[in-house]
Amino acid sequence: MPKAATQIEYNLPIPNELRPLLPVTKRIMIDTDPGVDDALAFLLALASPEIQLEALTTTQGNVTLEKATANALAVLELARASHIPVARGSLLPLVEPLRASAFVHGESGIGNSRLPQPQAKPVPGHAVDYLIERVLAEPGELSIFPIGPLTNIAMAIRKEPRFASAIKELVIMGGAILERGNITPQAEFNIYVDPHAAHIVFHSGIPITLIPLDVTHKCLLKQEHIDRLMQISSPISRFIRDAVEVYLDASTQLGYEGSSLHDPLTLATILAPELLTLKEYYVDVDISGGVSMGKTFADIPNVLKKPANMKVAMQVRGAEFVELFLQRMEDLSRRITD
Ligand code: BDR
Ligand code: CA
Repeated sequence: MPKAATQIEYNLPIPNELRPLLPVTKRIMIDTDPGVDDALAFLLALASPEIQLEALTTTQGNVTLEKATANALAVLELARASHIPVARGSLLPLVEPLRASAFVHGESGIGNSRLPQPQAKPVPGHAVDYLIERVLAEPGELSIFPIGPLTNIAMAIRKEPRFASAIKELVIMGGAILERGNITPQAEFNIYVDPHAAHIVFHSGIPITLIPLDVTHKCLLKQEHIDRLMQISSPISRFIRDAVEVYLDASTQLGYEGSSLHDPLTLATILAPELLTLKEYYVDVDISGGVSMGKTFADIPNVLKKPANMKVAMQVRGAEFVELFLQRMEDLSRRITD
């Protein structure tokens, strides 16, 4: 019989009979298009005993589906977590053409990192079916953290009418409320890539927390933080240095003082919710095809008198989150050595 603490320390699956002995952990699946900051989000989840990472499901976005899936498997392998299932998802957005952002994430999707050739394979079948199967097997238990375009989630909602009411919640990295966009002057990347999917998800009735650019732009990873991590010799610290290089350059060229920890910040809802100020708003997305295509609109003055459909993070204590992130990466780097 494995010891509960050992299972947690190595992020192994926890048998149900051990759960009552453990501190409360949140069981999550991450839907992702890795992506430098997506990879950092996986590492943060794996470094955190408060989180049980149940699966990754992949989608196109920062890179093609093929690269996204290979990157997801490779990062798990690097972090000695290849037992975590990866399900391959959507090849294309619902309506829009494929996009990819090599400028920000590098050709491979994960900067200049040299990842191991993954031994594990994706689970059979499509991520949409995998999500439906897992969520319906344990209604109300699993939270999903979408940190890429919302294509898989929208398809699951449309394919299985019971899916929306069986998910515990969605914590989405996406949108820009008062902040400017990062892919058009108005739109944020994840929402812009598949705005029709976002429209379906926003109006699905699923409890949603949105983590938009308004807060992620305040959580900046800088060169001095990388230098601090490099005090520890580990495949993890080296991976972070190599992965972030291109991302840091691109962020500097765009006028930021560091690289935003967009996707890792979703996990603050579990690890340090007190760092986020959440407001309940009715939020919609423009799918009309004009200059504000993909823009997220929050009815802050409540002029529409529609019920709020999500909680939106509007403020963050950014420096404290970056410190938490660094400490967890230091812990993981000490744990995973050559
Ligand atoms: C989002 O877009 C992607 O490039 C990042 O991985 C993040 O999920 C930020 O707009
Ligand atoms: Ca992402």
